Amino acid sequence: MTDNEASNIEVIYSPEVINKRVRELAAEIEAAGLKNLLVIAILKGSFIFAADLIRALHEVGLAPEVDFITLSSYRTGTQSTGQVEILRDIDMDVSGRNILLVDDILESGRTLAFAKDLLSARGAQQISTCILLNKPGHRAVDVGADFQAFDCPDVFVVGYGMDVAYRYRQLPFVGCITHE
Ligand code: IMP
Ligand code: MG
Repeated sequence: MTDNEASNIEVIYSPEVINKRVRELAAEIEAAGLKNLLVIAILKGSFIFAADLIRALHEVGLAPEVDFITLSSYRTGTQSTGQVEILRDIDMDVSGRNILLVDDILESGRTLAFAKDLLSARGAQQISTCILLNKPGHRAVDVGADFQAFDCPDVFVVGYGMDVAYRYRQLPFVGCITHE
């Protein structure tokens, strides 16, 4: 393994493009009138996106509370197992709360649908969803996102928090692997 992992990755969304779009998303969320928000980031893949988004929300005058849930539908490969598991739950009581669920990619929809159903069963008042990337070609569950940064080409992407087999999360851009 080399330390210069970026050499075999083709950039799809650059840091500059991501930064601009995240700021726009925060403005869209503020303009939608979402208040007293509890942001719940779905780990692990969304950790960098969520970190940037909550600071952009601060810039537009919002003061969200933040919690995390670790869900898994992928293991180490690039294929979904089709089943979503809670690996680590949120700490907070969500009953009566306005939630903004944040995830990296919406693909089959199973992860987001699972998280929405879970929070709804726990009495959340309103659940909005915000994703970095939408891959619409592989939906298995009918679920959409209220806010999304980009449409994603139908390739396996890494970087900006997203991994394959625990690698590439540190890259500041979203890209795809061109060769090993
Ligand atoms: P879904 O449950 O099929 O919608 O899958 C969503 C989850 O799968 C995302 O939160 C990602 O963690 C993971 N995922 C889907 N596509 C990719 C990809 O191209 N790269 C990295 N992770 C992915
Ligand atoms: Mg994920």
